Amino acid sequence: MAENTHWMNGKICMVTGAASGIGAVTARALAQQGATVITVDVNTEKGTATTRQIQAQTGNPSVEFFQADLSSQNDIRLLAQQFLSRYQRLDVLVNNAGAIFAERQESVDGIEMTFALNYLGYFLLTNLLLDTLKAGAPARIVNVSSRSHARARINFEDMQLRSGYTGLHAYERSKLAIVLFTYELARRLQGTGVTANALHPGVVATGFALDGGGVMGLVTRLFRFGFMTPKQGAQTSIYLATSPKVEGITGKYFVRCKSVRSSPASYDEATASRLWRWSEERTNIRVIA
Ligand SMILES: NC(=O)c1ccc[n+]([C@@H]2O[C@H](COP(=O)([O-])OP(=O)(O)OC[C@H]3O[C@@H](n4cnc5c(N)ncnc54)[C@H](OP(=O)(O)O)[C@@H]3O)[C@@H](O)[C@H]2O)c1
Repeated sequence: MAENTHWMNGKICMVTGAASGIGAVTARALAQQGATVITVDVNTEKGTATTRQIQAQTGNPSVEFFQADLSSQNDIRLLAQQFLSRYQRLDVLVNNAGAIFAERQESVDGIEMTFALNYLGYFLLTNLLLDTLKAGAPARIVNVSSRSHARARINFEDMQLRSGYTGLHAYERSKLAIVLFTYELARRLQGTGVTANALHPGVVATGFALDGGGVMGLVTRLFRFGFMTPKQGAQTSIYLATSPKVEGITGKYFVRCKSVRSSPASYDEATASRLWRWSEERTNIRVIA
């Protein structure tokens, strides 16, 4: 068992997109360190299999799988209800689920799919669980972004990306939204004992982008043998979720377990606050944080 074993004993953690890749390794590490872990994924078969594997590998029976399509607001609400009916506290929420879509699609709620899954799902799930996180404070929110956020801007005139869609552009935009959201959340949560940080995991050989088609799919196929392993890629998520060294640290962006500057656009508070209002309207949620 690792250095933070004692620290995570009795903690309740949720990891989204935990059936494979970085999320699965993160969930396994939290279970290894003694936490109760809720794994969330869209695919029941894969999610159940990974959860059983984590129980067997760690000897920790307190790993439970909840199925949810995190691009669907209804599924996210059901997930939050299901969780709240079973648990009184949440110590760590790792928003990790993500994907890239070569062709423009819309979610069941009519939102551009990349934004719905990679960003708006994080916004809604986090806010639905916020009271529980505060109740268990100190608590941590860990949002998996990407360094590709640095190329993006948020254009409020075309939030649905109806013109000039590319999968990469949609992905970069969703990852910038995560960083803006994380900083805004940290500002709103000052004094509550709940921290919010974002991270870039590295370039990691997971299933990510393999089905995405386009340039990113091709690059992923060609160069993935030089990428980090999922275990290496999960280290910053695990660090932010577990390490006593980051207790109380909030509103930061981490790469390789170090706090670094994110893009200039990600620090624009006017954009963050406008995005927050836009997100509240799109999810019909009013947050008093
Ligand atoms: N890999 C990289 O190089 C890299 C770089 C920067 C950032 N990231 C970010 O790291 C995170 C994890 O990615 P990864 O590399 O581990 O990729 P991955 O292996 O594809 O894992 C993504 C996970 O999200 C799940 N997921 C996809 N759509 C979902 C939905 N609608 N509802 C619920 N879960 C859903 C996937 O489930 P299924 O497999 O069952 O569909 C999978 O378990 C993502 O946010 C990604 O953007 C990755």
